[in-house]
Amino acid sequence: MSSKPIGIFDSGVGGLSIWKEIHQLLPMESTCYLSDSKNAPYGPKGKEAIIALSVKNTEWLIDQDCKLIVVACNTATTNAIDTLRANYDIPFIGIEPAIKPAALQSKSKAIGILATKGTLSSQLFHKTSQLYSSELIVIEQEGNGIVELIEAGGLHSPEMLQLLQSYLKPMLDANIDCLVLGCTHYHFLTPILKELLPSHVKIIDSGEAVARQTKAVLEANQLLNNKRVAGTNTIYTNGEKTVVSSLLSSKVASVQKLVF
Ligand code: DGL
Repeated sequence: MSSKPIGIFDSGVGGLSIWKEIHQLLPMESTCYLSDSKNAPYGPKGKEAIIALSVKNTEWLIDQDCKLIVVACNTATTNAIDTLRANYDIPFIGIEPAIKPAALQSKSKAIGILATKGTLSSQLFHKTSQLYSSELIVIEQEGNGIVELIEAGGLHSPEMLQLLQSYLKPMLDANIDCLVLGCTHYHFLTPILKELLPSHVKIIDSGEAVARQTKAVLEANQLLNNKRVAGTNTIYTNGEKTVVSSLLSSKVASVQKLVF
């Protein structure tokens, strides 16, 4: 049993979509979120650079006395989680594009995956996607520019709308009925995507599953907080605090600027 915080990191504000799910499921847990916005986006960086940044983030969270680390970034998970698990004696939870649930739900047998270049080019993603390539058409699309716009506060900008329209077109032409959001930043696009997609297309992301897995791993390692008081939640960012606040509807977290 431990009242230490759960550590969570992402290349920026995208992982706040995961933080929300974890906080909702485990309100008694304290959380410490690191938004490495200064180095966003990770997607176009090579594997070695993504590993180096993930190691730096992990060490910072370990220094904050975190008991478990959630890698709330598909790009960091698919490129770096093996290295992290091999080097640090702390449980890690990762996130990967939810291809399997999409494959199980698809009736048209065509699904779209929107993710970063770093995720789509990773070995881990390739291995999973190959498992399904014989039974369905998988349209992979790099979401270039989306993370940058969200980090700059341009979630609802005309540029975003244009980018999304161009990225969805080949998917809609292929008659997809499931769209997998393979980047934690993309969760915040859900209302816009619902406007752009026909109503039968399901939008699938992995936030809830990551929260459930976090709970299961805490339980298995006897690390759940057994104190009956709500945890404290701090979001640290080396970017703009206003961008964090604009995406956080909850008032239970404090936002701190970090030189990192
Ligand atoms: N939120 C990260 C992900 O899930 C964004 C990656 C990036 O910084 O390019 O992949």
